[in-house]
Amino acid sequence: MAAAPEGRNPAGGQGAGDGNLIDIDRKPEPAGREQLPPAKGDSDLRGQTPDDLEPPADALLVVRKMKKYFPIRKGFFQRHTGDVKAVDGVSFFLRRGETLGLVGESGCGKTTTGRAIMRMEPPTSGEAHFDGRNIVTMDAGELRRFRRKAQYVFQDPFSSLNPRMTIGETIREVLKVHGLAVGAKADARVAELLRVVGLRPEHSERYPHEFSGGQRQRIGIARALAVEPELIICDEPVSALDVSVQAQVINLLQDLQREFGLTYLFIAHDLSVVEHISDRVAVMYLGRIVELADSDELYRNPLMPYTQALLSAAPVPDPRHKRERIVLHGDVPSPANPPSGCPFHPRCQHPLKDADCAKIVPPLADKGGGHFAACIKVPLGASG
Ligand SMILES: Nc1ncnc2c1ncn2[C@@H]1O[C@H](COP(=O)(O)OP(=O)(O)OP(=O)(O)O)[C@@H](O)[C@H]1O
Ligand code: SF4
Ligand SMILES: [Mg+2]
Repeated sequence: MAAAPEGRNPAGGQGAGDGNLIDIDRKPEPAGREQLPPAKGDSDLRGQTPDDLEPPADALLVVRKMKKYFPIRKGFFQRHTGDVKAVDGVSFFLRRGETLGLVGESGCGKTTTGRAIMRMEPPTSGEAHFDGRNIVTMDAGELRRFRRKAQYVFQDPFSSLNPRMTIGETIREVLKVHGLAVGAKADARVAELLRVVGLRPEHSERYPHEFSGGQRQRIGIARALAVEPELIICDEPVSALDVSVQAQVINLLQDLQREFGLTYLFIAHDLSVVEHISDRVAVMYLGRIVELADSDELYRNPLMPYTQALLSAAPVPDPRHKRERIVLHGDVPSPANPPSGCPFHPRCQHPLKDADCAKIVPPLADKGGGHFAACIKVPLGASG
């Protein structure tokens, strides 16, 4: 494995499948084709993929070639007839104290990725290393200790809060289960946690239905903080909130990150939501990461036609600088039956799109300066 270039941030993502650059029609390759000479407009496919690179020494989480397939069963005998390929070989890492935004349309596999990392859903294959230990093979005791260090904040905190328990009872239970505090010590800790997330100690006596959406999300964050985690997977934590409240919760998450040195995987379907909180952004499509770069770079120079379309649809603060809208035609294909070649090809409007796009699975290749994109029409050196 080659080491990551100094000063760069070539974060994770996957190669094509498990290292196979081509997933065409399985016909024998004509002589010389295995060299993949670029056709007109084709890029060189041999750029380094994130799997070729060593993660940095300060990586807290390293995900490698993770897959999560849900079996499709039919008939009286529940015959296995196929799989929903919800996550199809993603690789990335998270440095301590950074935020990686994970974005993509509904159903592209963001939540499944988060749940597989937490082992709420056992991954089909692949690895996820937290602080050097593989989560996938942890025994029950190790998993319990890991789940103290890693927390999950849900989009809808109401559904994850027990409606019959006061907020104080909910947080005190977390403290008790993890052996952190009971009695007066727990009461003091509850008051402290509520203060930290911008609520008042007396809120501990109230029930979830007595709070607004933004307040409930603050409670979800307080509950996650109760165990003093290092990593928080925030799964669309602001998607259900009004825009003004979204900004408050994002600001709160940023303040908490600074105060407690937290590391975030921040999931959203909208690129504009993650822009200001993310150090790097990964864009997912049909279970794969298709673009990954430093945040500034990705918003300034999106390489993937898919990312360009998502960005063109994102709201901008100043309407005078509105981007020309690229309309994405057609629905996202089913992850049970993904298209051949580039999974985006049925919807892609790249001017160089051609028959190769339906044959070649583009690897997530470094197109320069640690900007990874999975498109055979983006040449090496397009960035950096
Ligand atoms: N338990 C399950 N059984 C079968 N299929 C599932 C299961 N959970 C998720 N899926 C499928 O996996 C795919 C990815 O789902 P996932 O919830 O990860 O997407 P998402 O990107 O989080 O979407 P959203 O933005 O709507 O939350 C979808 O096609 C979904 O229907
Ligand atoms: S269809 Fe072709 S041009 Fe479009 S994103 Fe895929 S590889 Fe690139
Ligand atoms: Mg989701």
